[in-house]
Amino acid sequence: MTEAGSGTGTRTDAGTGTGTRTDAGAGSEAAFEIAFKNIYGRAPEGIWAAPGRVNLIGEHTDYNDGYVMPFALPHRTRAAVARRDDGLLRVHSADMDGGVVELRIDDLAPGTTRGWAVYPAAVLWTLRQAGHDIVGADIHYDSNVPVGGGLSSSAALQVVTALALTELHGLDLPRQELALLCQSSENTYVGAPVGVMDQTASACCTEGHALHLDVRGLSQRQVPFDLAAQGLQLLVVDTRVKHAHADGAYGELRAGCEAAAAALGLPALRDVDFDGLDAALAALPDERLRRLTRHVVTENRRVEEVIALLDAGRTREIGPVLTAGHASLRDDFRVSCAELDLVVDTALAAGALGARMTGGGFGGSAIVLVDAGEVERISAAILQALPTARLFPTTAGPGAHRLV
Ligand code: GLA
Repeated sequence: MTEAGSGTGTRTDAGTGTGTRTDAGAGSEAAFEIAFKNIYGRAPEGIWAAPGRVNLIGEHTDYNDGYVMPFALPHRTRAAVARRDDGLLRVHSADMDGGVVELRIDDLAPGTTRGWAVYPAAVLWTLRQAGHDIVGADIHYDSNVPVGGGLSSSAALQVVTALALTELHGLDLPRQELALLCQSSENTYVGAPVGVMDQTASACCTEGHALHLDVRGLSQRQVPFDLAAQGLQLLVVDTRVKHAHADGAYGELRAGCEAAAAALGLPALRDVDFDGLDAALAALPDERLRRLTRHVVTENRRVEEVIALLDAGRTREIGPVLTAGHASLRDDFRVSCAELDLVVDTALAAGALGARMTGGGFGGSAIVLVDAGEVERISAAILQALPTARLFPTTAGPGAHRLV
Protein backbone atom coordinates (compact mmCIF):
# COMPACT_ATOMS: atom_id res chain seq x y z
CA MET A 1 0.00 0.00 0.00
CA THR A 2 2.54 2.58 1.01
CA GLU A 3 5.81 0.73 1.01
CA ALA A 4 8.13 0.69 -1.94
CA GLY A 5 9.55 -2.66 -0.98
CA SER A 6 6.34 -4.44 -0.07
CA GLY A 7 5.63 -7.57 -1.97
CA THR A 8 8.79 -7.57 -4.02
CA GLY A 9 10.62 -10.04 -1.82
CA THR A 10 13.81 -8.75 -3.39
CA ARG A 11 14.84 -5.94 -1.12
CA THR A 12 18.18 -6.43 0.57
CA ASP A 13 18.70 -5.52 4.17
CA ALA A 14 20.83 -2.53 3.20
CA GLY A 15 17.81 -0.91 1.63
CA THR A 16 15.44 -1.30 4.49
CA GLY A 17 16.89 1.80 6.08
CA THR A 18 17.83 1.87 9.69
CA GLY A 19 16.94 5.48 10.06
CA THR A 20 20.53 6.13 10.95
CA ARG A 21 22.04 5.03 7.67
CA THR A 22 24.17 7.67 5.99
CA ASP A 23 25.34 5.90 2.83
CA ALA A 24 22.04 6.19 0.95
CA GLY A 25 19.84 9.18 0.37
CA ALA A 26 22.34 11.18 2.42
CA GLY A 27 25.69 10.29 0.83
CA SER A 28 27.45 12.75 -1.46
CA GLU A 29 25.91 13.64 -4.79
CA ALA A 30 29.32 13.07 -6.44
CA ALA A 31 29.41 9.44 -5.28
CA PHE A 32 25.81 8.96 -6.38
CA GLU A 33 26.66 10.35 -9.82
CA ILE A 34 29.59 7.93 -10.10
CA ALA A 35 27.29 5.06 -9.20
CA PHE A 36 24.99 6.10 -12.08
CA LYS A 37 27.96 6.20 -14.47
CA ASN A 38 29.08 2.74 -13.37
CA ILE A 39 25.61 1.34 -14.05
CA TYR A 40 24.71 3.11 -17.30
CA GLY A 41 28.10 4.10 -18.77
CA ARG A 42 27.28 7.81 -19.02
CA ALA A 43 26.60 10.78 -16.77
CA PRO A 44 23.15 11.62 -15.36
CA GLU A 45 21.53 14.87 -16.43
CA GLY A 46 20.50 15.68 -12.88
CA ILE A 47 19.82 14.38 -9.38
CA TRP A 48 16.56 14.88 -7.48
CA ALA A 49 15.34 14.00 -3.97
CA ALA A 50 11.91 13.42 -2.43
CA PRO A 51 11.20 12.70 1.24
CA GLY A 52 9.12 10.22 3.17
CA ARG A 53 6.58 11.69 5.59
CA VAL A 54 5.17 11.51 9.07
CA ASN A 55 1.52 12.38 9.51
CA LEU A 56 1.19 14.51 12.64
CA ILE A 57 -2.62 14.25 12.77
CA GLY A 58 -5.49 13.56 10.35
CA GLU A 59 -5.48 9.82 9.69
CA HIS A 60 -7.80 8.08 7.24
CA THR A 61 -9.38 11.44 6.55
CA ASP A 62 -7.86 12.13 3.13
CA TYR A 63 -10.17 9.82 1.18
CA ASN A 64 -13.09 11.30 3.12
CA ASP A 65 -12.39 14.78 1.69
CA GLY A 66 -11.10 15.84 5.10
CA TYR A 67 -8.05 17.44 6.70
CA VAL A 68 -4.53 16.04 7.05
CA MET A 69 -1.37 17.46 8.54
CA PRO A 70 1.80 15.66 7.50
CA PHE A 71 5.38 16.89 7.51
CA ALA A 72 8.37 15.72 5.47
CA LEU A 73 10.99 13.51 7.06
CA PRO A 74 14.66 14.39 6.54
CA HIS A 75 14.89 10.85 5.09
CA ARG A 76 14.63 10.87 1.33
CA THR A 77 14.85 8.93 -1.89
CA ARG A 78 17.26 10.20 -4.53
CA ALA A 79 17.11 9.65 -8.28
CA ALA A 80 19.89 10.30 -10.79
CA VAL A 81 18.29 10.49 -14.22
CA ALA A 82 19.18 10.78 -17.90
CA ARG A 83 16.72 10.81 -20.78
CA ARG A 84 16.56 8.14 -23.48
CA ASP A 85 14.84 8.47 -26.84
CA ASP A 86 14.41 4.79 -27.69
CA GLY A 87 11.26 3.91 -25.76
CA LEU A 88 13.02 2.19 -22.87
CA LEU A 89 12.71 2.85 -19.15
CA ARG A 90 15.65 1.39 -17.24
CA VAL A 91 15.64 1.56 -13.44
CA HIS A 92 18.17 0.47 -10.85
CA SER A 93 18.16 0.79 -7.08
CA ALA A 94 21.10 0.69 -4.73
CA ASP A 95 18.74 -0.90 -2.21
CA MET A 96 17.34 -3.76 -4.28
CA ASP A 97 18.72 -7.00 -5.56
CA GLY A 98 18.17 -7.79 -9.21
CA GLY A 99 20.26 -5.21 -11.08
CA VAL A 100 18.83 -3.02 -13.82
CA VAL A 101 15.15 -3.52 -14.64
CA GLU A 102 14.46 -2.74 -18.31
CA LEU A 103 10.92 -1.98 -19.46
CA ARG A 104 9.55 -1.13 -22.92
CA ILE A 105 7.38 1.93 -22.47
CA ASP A 106 4.91 0.84 -25.16
CA ASP A 107 4.35 -2.40 -23.23
CA LEU A 108 3.53 -0.70 -19.91
CA ALA A 109 0.01 -1.46 -18.72
CA PRO A 110 -1.63 -1.72 -15.29
CA GLY A 111 -1.02 -5.11 -13.73
CA THR A 112 1.99 -6.03 -15.86
CA THR A 113 4.99 -4.76 -13.87
CA ARG A 114 6.46 -6.87 -11.06
CA GLY A 115 8.45 -5.83 -7.98
CA TRP A 116 9.54 -2.38 -6.94
CA ALA A 117 9.83 -1.14 -10.56
CA VAL A 118 6.03 -0.96 -10.62
CA TYR A 119 6.26 2.48 -8.96
CA PRO A 120 8.47 4.26 -11.53
CA ALA A 121 6.70 2.39 -14.35
CA ALA A 122 3.35 3.57 -12.99
CA VAL A 123 4.50 7.18 -12.84
CA LEU A 124 5.86 7.17 -16.37
CA TRP A 125 2.72 5.47 -17.71
CA THR A 126 0.49 7.97 -15.91
CA LEU A 127 2.46 10.97 -17.21
CA ARG A 128 2.06 9.64 -20.73
CA GLN A 129 -1.67 8.98 -20.19
CA ALA A 130 -1.93 12.63 -19.15
CA GLY A 131 -0.43 13.62 -22.51
CA HIS A 132 3.14 14.30 -21.48
CA ASP A 133 5.53 13.07 -24.16
CA ILE A 134 8.16 11.16 -22.19
CA VAL A 135 9.86 8.51 -24.31
CA GLY A 136 12.49 6.96 -22.08
CA ALA A 137 14.91 7.30 -19.20
CA ASP A 138 17.71 5.68 -17.24
CA ILE A 139 17.24 6.09 -13.48
CA HIS A 140 19.35 5.11 -10.49
CA TYR A 141 17.80 5.38 -6.99
CA ASP A 142 18.90 5.17 -3.43
CA SER A 143 16.94 5.82 -0.26
CA ASN A 144 17.21 6.08 3.48
CA VAL A 145 13.45 6.24 4.04
CA PRO A 146 12.70 3.23 6.25
CA VAL A 147 10.79 0.71 4.14
CA GLY A 148 7.79 -1.02 5.68
CA GLY A 149 7.57 1.64 8.39
CA GLY A 150 4.43 3.40 7.19
CA LEU A 151 6.61 6.41 6.36
CA SER A 152 5.71 6.62 2.66
CA SER A 153 8.80 5.21 1.02
CA SER A 154 6.69 4.48 -2.05
CA ALA A 155 5.39 8.07 -2.26
CA ALA A 156 9.01 9.27 -2.10
CA LEU A 157 9.85 6.93 -4.98
CA GLN A 158 6.86 8.09 -7.02
CA VAL A 159 7.37 11.79 -6.40
CA VAL A 160 11.12 11.82 -7.08
CA THR A 161 10.45 9.99 -10.35
CA ALA A 162 7.67 12.36 -11.40
CA LEU A 163 9.62 15.49 -10.48
CA ALA A 164 12.78 14.34 -12.27
CA LEU A 165 11.00 13.22 -15.44
CA THR A 166 8.85 16.33 -15.73
CA GLU A 167 11.67 18.77 -15.03
CA LEU A 168 14.00 17.01 -17.46
CA HIS A 169 11.34 17.30 -20.13
CA GLY A 170 10.80 21.00 -19.49
CA LEU A 171 7.39 20.49 -17.88
CA ASP A 172 6.80 22.79 -14.96
CA LEU A 173 3.87 21.06 -13.26
CA PRO A 174 2.44 22.57 -10.06
CA ARG A 175 3.42 20.41 -7.09
CA GLN A 176 -0.14 19.49 -6.19
CA GLU A 177 -0.75 18.34 -9.76
CA LEU A 178 2.42 16.24 -9.56
CA ALA A 179 1.10 14.65 -6.35
CA LEU A 180 -2.28 13.92 -7.94
CA LEU A 181 -0.54 12.25 -10.89
CA CYS A 182 1.44 10.08 -8.47
CA GLN A 183 -1.70 9.17 -6.52
CA SER A 184 -3.44 8.29 -9.76
CA SER A 185 -0.48 6.10 -10.75
CA GLU A 186 -0.80 4.19 -7.47
CA ASN A 187 -4.60 3.88 -7.76
CA THR A 188 -4.71 2.84 -11.39
CA TYR A 189 -1.41 1.13 -12.21
CA VAL A 190 -0.26 -0.27 -8.86
CA GLY A 191 -3.85 -0.98 -7.81
CA ALA A 192 -3.86 0.52 -4.31
CA PRO A 193 -6.86 2.80 -3.51
CA VAL A 194 -4.83 5.31 -1.47
CA GLY A 195 -5.70 8.94 -0.83
CA VAL A 196 -3.52 11.89 -1.84
CA MET A 197 -1.86 12.71 1.50
CA ASP A 198 1.46 10.89 1.13
CA GLN A 199 2.30 12.13 -2.34
CA THR A 200 1.25 15.68 -1.46
CA ALA A 201 3.44 15.60 1.63
CA SER A 202 6.47 14.46 -0.34
CA ALA A 203 5.89 16.98 -3.13
CA CYS A 204 4.67 20.03 -1.19
CA CYS A 205 6.03 20.08 2.38
CA THR A 206 8.58 22.71 3.34
CA GLU A 207 11.32 22.60 5.96
CA GLY A 208 10.26 23.58 9.47
CA HIS A 209 6.54 23.28 8.67
CA ALA A 210 3.71 20.83 8.83
CA LEU A 211 1.35 20.99 5.88
CA HIS A 212 -2.33 21.57 6.52
CA LEU A 213 -4.05 20.13 3.48
CA ASP A 214 -7.79 20.39 3.05
CA VAL A 215 -8.33 17.53 0.63
CA ARG A 216 -11.60 18.96 -0.63
CA GLY A 217 -10.45 21.78 -2.84
CA LEU A 218 -6.81 20.92 -2.08
CA SER A 219 -6.03 24.19 -0.31
CA GLN A 220 -2.73 24.15 1.56
CA ARG A 221 -1.18 26.05 4.44
CA GLN A 222 2.37 25.64 5.71
CA VAL A 223 2.07 25.73 9.51
CA PRO A 224 5.30 26.55 11.40
CA PHE A 225 6.38 23.41 13.26
CA ASP A 226 9.59 23.94 15.16
CA LEU A 227 9.51 21.69 18.20
CA ALA A 228 13.11 22.37 19.26
CA ALA A 229 12.28 26.05 19.77
CA GLN A 230 9.69 24.93 22.32
CA GLY A 231 12.03 22.50 24.10
CA LEU A 232 10.24 19.53 22.56
CA GLN A 233 11.20 16.57 20.42
CA LEU A 234 9.25 14.14 18.27
CA LEU A 235 10.34 10.51 18.16
CA VAL A 236 9.44 8.15 15.34
CA VAL A 237 9.15 4.55 16.50
CA ASP A 238 9.01 2.03 13.67
CA THR A 239 7.59 -1.17 15.16
CA ARG A 240 8.99 -3.12 12.19
CA VAL A 241 5.79 -5.09 11.94
CA LYS A 242 3.43 -5.03 9.00
CA HIS A 243 0.40 -7.23 9.35
CA ALA A 244 -0.49 -9.23 6.30
CA HIS A 245 -4.08 -8.06 5.84
CA ALA A 246 -3.08 -4.39 5.55
CA ASP A 247 -3.67 -3.88 1.84
CA GLY A 248 -7.14 -5.43 1.58
CA ALA A 249 -8.28 -3.87 4.84
CA TYR A 250 -7.49 -0.34 3.60
CA GLY A 251 -9.86 -0.76 0.66
CA GLU A 252 -12.56 -2.17 2.95
CA LEU A 253 -12.25 0.79 5.32
CA ARG A 254 -12.45 3.23 2.47
CA ALA A 255 -15.52 1.45 1.09
CA GLY A 256 -17.08 1.51 4.58
CA CYS A 257 -16.59 5.27 4.85
CA GLU A 258 -18.13 5.77 1.43
CA ALA A 259 -21.07 3.56 2.40
CA ALA A 260 -21.60 5.61 5.57
CA ALA A 261 -21.58 8.89 3.62
CA ALA A 262 -24.01 7.41 1.09
CA ALA A 263 -26.32 6.22 3.89
CA LEU A 264 -26.37 9.78 5.21
CA GLY A 265 -27.03 11.20 1.75
CA LEU A 266 -23.75 13.15 1.81
CA PRO A 267 -20.90 13.38 -0.72
CA ALA A 268 -18.30 12.41 1.92
CA LEU A 269 -17.93 11.97 5.68
CA ARG A 270 -16.25 15.35 5.71
CA ASP A 271 -19.74 16.79 5.37
CA VAL A 272 -20.80 15.54 8.81
CA ASP A 273 -20.43 18.51 11.18
CA PHE A 274 -18.81 17.82 14.51
CA ASP A 275 -21.90 19.30 16.17
CA GLY A 276 -24.16 17.05 14.12
CA LEU A 277 -22.23 13.88 14.88
CA ASP A 278 -24.73 12.35 17.31
CA ALA A 279 -27.60 12.85 14.90
CA ALA A 280 -25.54 11.32 12.07
CA LEU A 281 -24.61 8.32 14.21
CA ALA A 282 -28.25 7.76 15.10
CA ALA A 283 -29.14 7.73 11.41
CA LEU A 284 -26.60 5.07 10.45
CA PRO A 285 -27.74 1.47 10.02
CA ASP A 286 -24.98 -0.43 11.83
CA GLU A 287 -22.28 -0.23 14.45
CA ARG A 288 -19.36 -0.55 12.03
CA LEU A 289 -20.46 2.45 9.98
CA ARG A 290 -21.01 4.38 13.22
CA ARG A 291 -17.45 3.63 14.39
CA LEU A 292 -15.91 4.64 11.06
CA THR A 293 -17.92 7.85 10.97
CA ARG A 294 -17.10 8.77 14.56
CA HIS A 295 -13.38 8.41 13.86
CA VAL A 296 -13.40 10.53 10.69
CA VAL A 297 -15.50 13.32 12.16
CA THR A 298 -13.58 13.53 15.44
CA GLU A 299 -10.25 13.25 13.60
CA ASN A 300 -11.05 16.23 11.38
CA ARG A 301 -11.84 18.10 14.57
CA ARG A 302 -8.48 17.05 16.07
CA VAL A 303 -6.66 18.47 13.04
CA GLU A 304 -8.38 21.79 13.67
CA GLU A 305 -7.46 21.63 17.36
CA VAL A 306 -3.79 20.93 16.61
CA ILE A 307 -3.62 23.80 14.13
CA ALA A 308 -5.20 26.20 16.64
CA LEU A 309 -2.72 25.13 19.33
CA LEU A 310 0.29 25.45 17.00
CA ASP A 311 -0.88 28.85 15.79
CA ALA A 312 -1.26 29.97 19.42
CA GLY A 313 2.26 28.75 20.30
CA ARG A 314 0.76 26.20 22.72
CA THR A 315 2.68 23.33 21.15
CA ARG A 316 3.00 21.16 24.28
CA GLU A 317 -0.76 20.95 24.42
CA ILE A 318 -1.04 19.04 21.14
CA GLY A 319 0.12 15.93 23.06
CA PRO A 320 -3.29 14.88 24.43
CA VAL A 321 -4.89 15.53 21.03
CA LEU A 322 -2.41 13.14 19.40
CA THR A 323 -3.15 10.55 22.08
CA ALA A 324 -6.90 10.93 21.57
CA GLY A 325 -6.28 10.33 17.87
CA HIS A 326 -4.59 7.06 18.70
CA ALA A 327 -7.50 5.90 20.85
CA SER A 328 -9.89 6.68 18.00
CA LEU A 329 -7.79 4.76 15.47
CA ARG A 330 -7.51 1.85 17.91
CA ASP A 331 -11.09 1.65 19.14
CA ASP A 332 -13.23 3.13 16.35
CA PHE A 333 -11.27 2.75 13.12
CA ARG A 334 -9.49 -0.40 14.41
CA VAL A 335 -6.27 -0.02 12.43
CA SER A 336 -3.81 -0.20 15.31
CA CYS A 337 -2.12 -3.40 16.45
CA ALA A 338 -0.61 -4.79 19.65
CA GLU A 339 2.89 -3.46 18.90
CA LEU A 340 1.68 0.09 18.16
CA ASP A 341 -0.50 0.09 21.29
CA LEU A 342 2.47 -1.14 23.33
CA VAL A 343 4.68 1.70 22.07
CA VAL A 344 2.00 4.32 22.74
CA ASP A 345 1.11 2.99 26.20
CA THR A 346 4.76 2.60 27.21
CA ALA A 347 5.66 6.09 26.02
CA LEU A 348 2.74 7.67 27.89
CA ALA A 349 3.48 5.70 31.06
CA ALA A 350 7.09 6.92 30.84
CA GLY A 351 5.95 10.53 30.69
CA ALA A 352 5.53 11.33 26.98
CA LEU A 353 3.28 14.33 26.29
CA GLY A 354 1.37 12.45 23.59
CA ALA A 355 1.70 9.48 21.25
CA ARG A 356 -0.13 7.94 18.34
CA MET A 357 0.26 5.58 15.43
CA THR A 358 0.96 7.39 12.15
CA GLY A 359 0.07 6.34 8.62
CA GLY A 360 -2.32 3.66 7.44
CA GLY A 361 -1.81 1.34 10.43
CA PHE A 362 -1.75 -2.46 10.92
CA GLY A 363 1.90 -2.04 11.89
CA GLY A 364 4.35 0.63 10.80
CA SER A 365 5.29 3.54 13.01
CA ALA A 366 4.14 5.55 16.01
CA ILE A 367 5.12 9.12 16.88
CA VAL A 368 5.86 10.21 20.42
CA LEU A 369 6.00 13.84 21.61
CA VAL A 370 8.41 14.36 24.50
CA ASP A 371 10.20 17.11 26.40
CA ALA A 372 13.67 17.39 24.87
CA GLY A 373 15.30 16.45 28.17
CA GLU A 374 13.31 13.21 28.31
CA VAL A 375 14.36 11.77 24.94
CA GLU A 376 16.83 9.24 26.30
CA ARG A 377 14.74 8.03 29.20
CA ILE A 378 11.54 7.59 27.19
CA SER A 379 13.40 6.05 24.23
CA ALA A 380 14.97 3.51 26.58
CA ALA A 381 11.57 2.62 28.04
CA ILE A 382 10.10 2.08 24.57
CA LEU A 383 13.04 -0.04 23.40
CA GLN A 384 12.88 -2.09 26.56
CA ALA A 385 9.21 -2.85 25.88
CA LEU A 386 9.75 -3.52 22.15
CA PRO A 387 13.45 -4.29 21.56
CA THR A 388 12.95 -4.89 17.83
CA ALA A 389 11.66 -1.34 17.24
CA ARG A 390 13.75 1.22 15.37
CA LEU A 391 13.55 4.65 16.96
CA PHE A 392 14.80 8.04 15.86
CA PRO A 393 14.14 11.70 16.71
CA THR A 394 12.97 13.74 13.75
CA THR A 395 12.31 17.25 12.47
CA ALA A 396 10.34 18.65 9.55
CA GLY A 397 12.55 18.45 6.47
CA PRO A 398 12.19 19.86 2.94
CA GLY A 399 9.86 18.57 0.26
CA ALA A 400 10.98 17.22 -3.11
CA HIS A 401 13.64 19.26 -4.91
CA ARG A 402 16.45 19.12 -7.44
CA LEU A 403 19.89 18.54 -5.91
CA VAL A 404 22.13 18.83 -8.96
C1 GLA B 1 -1.91 5.61 3.77
C2 GLA B 1 -2.48 6.23 2.49
C3 GLA B 1 -2.90 7.68 2.72
C4 GLA B 1 -3.79 7.82 3.94
C5 GLA B 1 -3.17 7.09 5.14
C6 GLA B 1 -4.08 7.07 6.33
O1 GLA B 1 -0.71 6.22 4.10
O2 GLA B 1 -1.53 6.17 1.46
O3 GLA B 1 -3.55 8.17 1.57
O4 GLA B 1 -5.10 7.36 3.68
O5 GLA B 1 -2.84 5.74 4.82
O6 GLA B 1 -4.26 8.36 6.83
